[in-house]
Amino acid sequence: MNYHILTLFPEMVLEGLNTSIIGRAVERGTISINAINIRDYAMNKHKQVDDYPYGGGAGMVMQPGPVCDSYEELCRKLNRRPRVLYMTPQGKVFNQSIARELAKEEDLVFLCGHYEGIDERALSLIVTDCLSIGDYVLTGGELPAMVMIDCISRLVPGVLSNEESAEIESFHDNLLEYPQYTRPEEFRGMKVPEVLLSGHHKNIETWRRRESIKRTLERRPDLLADAVLTKKEQEYLREICQERACTEDHIVIE
Ligand code: ADE
Repeated sequence: MNYHILTLFPEMVLEGLNTSIIGRAVERGTISINAINIRDYAMNKHKQVDDYPYGGGAGMVMQPGPVCDSYEELCRKLNRRPRVLYMTPQGKVFNQSIARELAKEEDLVFLCGHYEGIDERALSLIVTDCLSIGDYVLTGGELPAMVMIDCISRLVPGVLSNEESAEIESFHDNLLEYPQYTRPEEFRGMKVPEVLLSGHHKNIETWRRRESIKRTLERRPDLLADAVLTKKEQEYLREICQERACTEDHIVIE
């Protein structure tokens, strides 16, 4: 996977992504991170890349020329036009299934805006996907790009080791992860659930699935609408729902 980040702050993304698991994947060559400074494509000697908005209003707008030129030079080098993800609170909210889809690409371009945004003409020419990381406003697209790169990278084959494997985790089957325990067996009077000490793999698996379902019902009932459950698990969900007198109308259990 090759990431190309169009930004006014290349050092911010490079420093943020050169440690831990992502840094290790870069060193190994499993992923690459190419930060392109949009300011290098400024058209004037002051290296200015923003200007006042036509029609008036607060703030400055990034000019279309440097944004398009930086992308087009990249396309010439790659000999193709990769997907361009524009980081904006107006975009679709990023989630695990979007991450899974993006992890299949060979190259991804992240376009990071600053100031009051980017001239609409540049966006209409190059952007393929508008993505947000949540319903709040940040000062720029660099942190959202870093969040998405971290999330996508752990789905790229070879980035996680076997122990770190992404196979069973939160959002697998649209359920939250079950609770985890390690030594000691008793901590401040609280014991590790008996079943986890039993060595009985089938029972442990059943217990974990049930804990996942229970936790999802408690913390993120909205996810249950798309959860992948067996007949038995649907029955279990119905039982705990009845016990708790669930009224959430988005939980549809036939
Ligand atoms: N730029 C500013 N705020 C943002 C957000 N919430 N998501 C993506 N890009 C942004």
